[in-house]
Amino acid sequence: MSFPAGFAVSAPAGAPMPGDTVLTGDRPTGVLHVGHYAGSLRTRVALQGRCAQTLLIADLQALTDMSDRAAHVAAYVEEVALDYLAAGIDPSLTTIAVQSRLPALAELTVLYLNLVTVARLERNPTVKAEIELRGFARDIPAGFLCYPVSQAADITGFRATLVPVGEDQLPMVEQTNEIVRRVNRLAEATILPECRALLSSTPRLPGIDGRKASKSLGNAIPLSTTRDDIRRLVHAMYTDPGHVRAADPGRVEGNVVFAHLDAFDADAGAVEKLKAHYRRGGLGDVALKRRLVDVLEHVIAPMRARRAEFACDRAYVREVLREGSARADEVTRAVLRSVRQAFALGG
Ligand code: TRP
Repeated sequence: MSFPAGFAVSAPAGAPMPGDTVLTGDRPTGVLHVGHYAGSLRTRVALQGRCAQTLLIADLQALTDMSDRAAHVAAYVEEVALDYLAAGIDPSLTTIAVQSRLPALAELTVLYLNLVTVARLERNPTVKAEIELRGFARDIPAGFLCYPVSQAADITGFRATLVPVGEDQLPMVEQTNEIVRRVNRLAEATILPECRALLSSTPRLPGIDGRKASKSLGNAIPLSTTRDDIRRLVHAMYTDPGHVRAADPGRVEGNVVFAHLDAFDADAGAVEKLKAHYRRGGLGDVALKRRLVDVLEHVIAPMRARRAEFACDRAYVREVLREGSARADEVTRAVLRSVRQAFALGG
């Protein structure tokens, strides 16, 4: 299968193939931002209609470190659905489901927990980084440490073969495949397929302060944000502290404005020229940022308009989630039946 330019794959990853089943998800902890769009959401829009695809709004996973903000998580389920619709996800081509409405995933998680050691959970580099970021120290919620296992349930619950994600999710794909191999060994048959990650050419877009972009850090540009906020956030972007006057030579590496231009400016040739000019000196941050505001406005304006339309019809959004979750419930129950058999559980 051919795939549009601008998408790269790396191990454990693979380009989409006919017959692939796509599953990916987001925690409903805040509105989605341009990093989600560049890292995964636009890939999903491109895959739509070419592969069977499900998007999971992972509210149970969000609760693993936000159990004290359950009402917030519940409220953002619909907001993430709105972001999907705004970005161009079409519910007649892509199933949108809510994780907590799929009890089979919870039961798969409980079964898979028997196949994973605590040491392996503690080695997951993304979980390690998140523990540090959240300052959990020794008070790590057990559910949080185990969320990669629940994510393996999400992926295998749909027999997914392709997982479009940002780079930080590669360890989850690896851990999922370890579980798949253990389940298949138990079953003495290939009842679950292994999966590949699909990375975009921008698997990791930094936040405006140069740190990891995060819904909770508030350091990223939300999809569907206003033009004024785009301008405000772009002007706050970290560039090169050594580039004081426009005439000074500047650094492109680690420069958040260039990272965003690389991700979103359709004219890659012009961006290369700007990089050369910036390195040489003579190109000011303000001119560069002005270009980025226009580029982002071009990407975001249609999403903002679509989001406003769907936001007026909450009943429709709820129906999309109800219908998608009902369909996903059937799929995941069928997978659970075969995994239960591998564990010699009848019923
Ligand atoms: N862990 C993912 C994130 O934080 C969200 C997620 C939940 C997910 N379940 C998934 C991603 C299954 C891919 C597949 O963004």
